[in-house]
Amino acid sequence: MSVYLDNAATSFPKPRAVIEAAARALEEVGASPGRGAHRHAREATAIVADCRRKTAAILGVKDPDRVVFTKNATESINLVLKGWLRPGDRVLYSAMEHNSVVRPLSRLASQGVNIEVIPCSPGGAPDLGALTQMLRSEARLVVLVHVSNINGALMPVAEASEVCARARVPLFLDAAQSAGVQPIEAEELGIGMLACSGHKALLGPAGVGILYVRPDLDVLPLMEGGTGSRSEQLEQPEFCPDRYESGTPNLPGLAGLCAGIGYIRETGMDSIRNHEIGIAHYLENELWQIPGVRVLEPEKRGSGTVSFVVEGMNPADTGSILDQAFDIAVRTGLHCAPLAHRTLGTFPEGTVRVSPGFSTTIENIEYFLNGLRWIVTRRG
Ligand code: ALA
Repeated sequence: MSVYLDNAATSFPKPRAVIEAAARALEEVGASPGRGAHRHAREATAIVADCRRKTAAILGVKDPDRVVFTKNATESINLVLKGWLRPGDRVLYSAMEHNSVVRPLSRLASQGVNIEVIPCSPGGAPDLGALTQMLRSEARLVVLVHVSNINGALMPVAEASEVCARARVPLFLDAAQSAGVQPIEAEELGIGMLACSGHKALLGPAGVGILYVRPDLDVLPLMEGGTGSRSEQLEQPEFCPDRYESGTPNLPGLAGLCAGIGYIRETGMDSIRNHEIGIAHYLENELWQIPGVRVLEPEKRGSGTVSFVVEGMNPADTGSILDQAFDIAVRTGLHCAPLAHRTLGTFPEGTVRVSPGFSTTIENIEYFLNGLRWIVTRRG
């Protein structure tokens, strides 16, 4: 048996419709969306528009033009942080953030932006009392991850958004691990900006990122260039999404993403989430029965992602035996989130991370557990 349990990195396998839509975009459509008036270009434009409509709907955004496509969540995050923060600004971010937030902020700190960490509990929940206190002084932005990529912890976004709204500071939500699995009502929640990727729970191919920016927030673009619109102008168009989308977009990626969202709508996001979280609960219970295994349980679970450590074993060794002896794919180490591992007490070795997807079965999990039991029994 071959078992893929690394859906928090990239979902796999994709629904058949995603593969077919991406292949069709390459084989039959092939053109640059929004560039040219011929049939191929018109069809490509229609695919992107359809993807934008579906993406807006799944994120709770009424106007699809507020949804911007980038190349990944990291680009969306960089765009917001670098397009919104200026030297002297103060930004607060949780102690559970990924390096896609922490690294651009470190860079901005070297250019005079003041960065401060919102403390989190040992399970990863942000201290909203501390955030309220921190917001008594002026701040320009609060950054919060929606669901942790390490232990699947669900953050109290509605409450955090209220705290931010009272202080009139925009909340920037990193929804990389939640979009497609957790319901998101970006506008209703008053979210300022939201970033996520298309290739995780939204089930699209890699190479598409998503960004939402509230209309009242004047975030500067990261790049300028051809947009297919206002071509007579030497300056970047000011309207969304063109303001932030320069260069030919990833048509096969967007066609696939559109089909991925279609699959989620047909199957039901609740049913996918219940399936993945049900697997996570089963997995957590079984893992606790294995001598020497400690599970990093979140206070509240938002995805199927489970992390654990095996006493006396380096996570990388466990992952490598699972891969080589059993053909089981898990991710090990720090998962690009060293700050979060410090919060959870698993820095510097990190954890073994198991992230099931919509097609993971209990048989897959039993196979994984048997492999792990075999490894634990033989550890030195
Ligand atoms: N951020 C992705 C992960 O957690 C890649 O694996």
